[in-house]
Amino acid sequence: MTTYAHITGWGMSAPESIMTNDDLSKIVETNDQWIRERTGIHQRHIAKDGEFPSTLAVQAALKALKVANLRPTDLDLIICSTSSPEYIFPATACLIQDQLGATKAGAFDLLAACSGFIYALNMAAQAIRSGSIKSALVIGSETLSRFVNWKDRSTCILFGDGAGAFVLQASDQPGGVLSAVMHSDGSGSNLLTIEGGGSRHPATEATLHDGRHFIQMDGNEVFRFATRVMASATLEVLECAGLKLEDINWIVPHQANIRIIGAAARGLKLPMERFIVNLQEYGNTSTASIPMAMVEAIEKGQIKTGDKLVMVGFGAGLTWGALAAEWTGPLPSKGHVHPEQYRRFARLRSLVRRAIRFVEGLLYRREL
Ligand code: UT7
Repeated sequence: MTTYAHITGWGMSAPESIMTNDDLSKIVETNDQWIRERTGIHQRHIAKDGEFPSTLAVQAALKALKVANLRPTDLDLIICSTSSPEYIFPATACLIQDQLGATKAGAFDLLAACSGFIYALNMAAQAIRSGSIKSALVIGSETLSRFVNWKDRSTCILFGDGAGAFVLQASDQPGGVLSAVMHSDGSGSNLLTIEGGGSRHPATEATLHDGRHFIQMDGNEVFRFATRVMASATLEVLECAGLKLEDINWIVPHQANIRIIGAAARGLKLPMERFIVNLQEYGNTSTASIPMAMVEAIEKGQIKTGDKLVMVGFGAGLTWGALAAEWTGPLPSKGHVHPEQYRRFARLRSLVRRAIRFVEGLLYRREL
């Protein structure tokens, strides 16, 4: 029997704190008109102290689990796509696993920059289709504002923070993820980067002094690359799924710049109305942008059960990719699960496990 990977739950979360274009014009030489005309962005949400990729991800994940009517303990796998991990290691996905109390789940991070959510969704769908797992939580979560140079007007106007989460589940009914394509070209690795703090340029006074811990970007080159690949990846993924552009209700593009989305629309000869766009409110939230745009569109009633859509993104690496899906909604299930109640148990469980580890450590040391 063929197994399909359905997207059965969805949720998003954005920090409450908003930074408008006018707010930015008070800290760098820019203005609302320039930012709106050149990017389409009106404002972005910025994480406050105490808000991290894991906390935003957990808020989004609890909503997604509630829609799917699934307990955190039902999950087999958690993939967190992020370019702003809380640590180099451990993986942010493990922090999410602990905060959710997803006791059965394997957890890892995936880094493919702004294309990461498409890569992660594809990996989870493949694992479900192969029969090795039954359910997965895929999250795109970013607090890239922590890596923004607030003196660099060419980058600080673009990025915002947020998280989007999908639950994927196995089903014998056709639908869900239909096809995916993933591409990379590392010859463009220098075009969009955070150089400092990794093992090539470990953090030193000099890396800090040179601002190597900030996002650096050749905006024009990235723009040109993006306009080339958005339409081609969309057509390629449709061909893999045996679909035509006419079969597709929605394109959900990476929310980087309205002019890039406009170029993709022209390349595909589609009206802008067929593209889901919410970058005016959130800016570029990197790997979170596609799931956040999807969740808003579902909640507004734009994306409906039975719709077919293509998610398409590009980013640092360089990476790009697309994924075609049929929107089927939650699987039939009995009763009502309240995933947020598991959160309290998760906190308690985490404390108890730490305490047990402490006591075990003392006993083990005595034995030595
Ligand atoms: O997830 C992937 C992430 N990256 C992207 O998607 C970035 C893709 N690139 C872009 O979106 C665009 O290249 C930018 C929005 C970054 C820049 O827009 P642009 O239309 O390519 O502007 P530009 O860099 O060619 O600059 C045009 C002018 C320059 O002034 P001069 O040299 O013509 O006098 C810039 O100095 O605009 C100036 N400028 C600004 N002016 C006001 C650059 N940034 C700003 C600013 N406010 N924030």
